[in-house]
Amino acid sequence: MRLDKFLTEMGLGTRSEVKKILKTKQITVNGEIVTKPETKVAPENDQISYKGEPVTYCEYEYYLFYKPAGCVTATEDQLHKTVMDYLTDTVRSDLFPVGRLDIDTEGLLLITNDGALAHDLLSPAKHVEKTYYAVIDGVVTENGVDIGEEKLTKPGKLRILKSEPESEIELTITEGRFHQVKRMFEAVGKKVLYLKRISMGPLQLTDDLKPGEYRPLTEEEITALKIVNK
Ligand code: URA
Repeated sequence: MRLDKFLTEMGLGTRSEVKKILKTKQITVNGEIVTKPETKVAPENDQISYKGEPVTYCEYEYYLFYKPAGCVTATEDQLHKTVMDYLTDTVRSDLFPVGRLDIDTEGLLLITNDGALAHDLLSPAKHVEKTYYAVIDGVVTENGVDIGEEKLTKPGKLRILKSEPESEIELTITEGRFHQVKRMFEAVGKKVLYLKRISMGPLQLTDDLKPGEYRPLTEEEITALKIVNK
């Protein structure tokens, strides 16, 4: 792998910033000063340092983020704060959110750079369960509804927690269509007043996080995710 690519991915700066850093002779590979961006390195074996401090190699990062309302699920946006703006203490520069929550939806979002895992988690064929807690204006009983697409949505699993004066429910779905939960309720004449994702596959939104906070996944959580995707 090219040295400038490695240093950019490890979060030292953009490709051009990294090139400037290299010119300052502050990068060493196995103790030798290296200034050429195209130098080939083997991150697992080579000892790469910046200002005498090792640049630790981190192939994959996995974070559980409690998305607050008011930010968009994107890596960049001209108008709004993005979910990535909250992840200030991470290593890699190529992290992205897996799936999408609406700007006003809160809750569990996986952030990683593991593209294969993300692809599997989002694949309709894998039927990964996502559970949402919602407050609904009215009472809901219906499953498997027409949301105006040619194909009907698969039935969700619905748990009614409270029904007066507003309903509080938990709905589990395996698909991830655009505004799916809101559209399922709209289709039966109900409005979603509040929506929060509380689980995705084996991942649960745990009490240690407040909206806007994140933590690395545990080894157990990473293993469980990979098993789901087998
Ligand atoms: N369904 C929705 O309507 N919105 C979300 O953010 C997630 C699921």
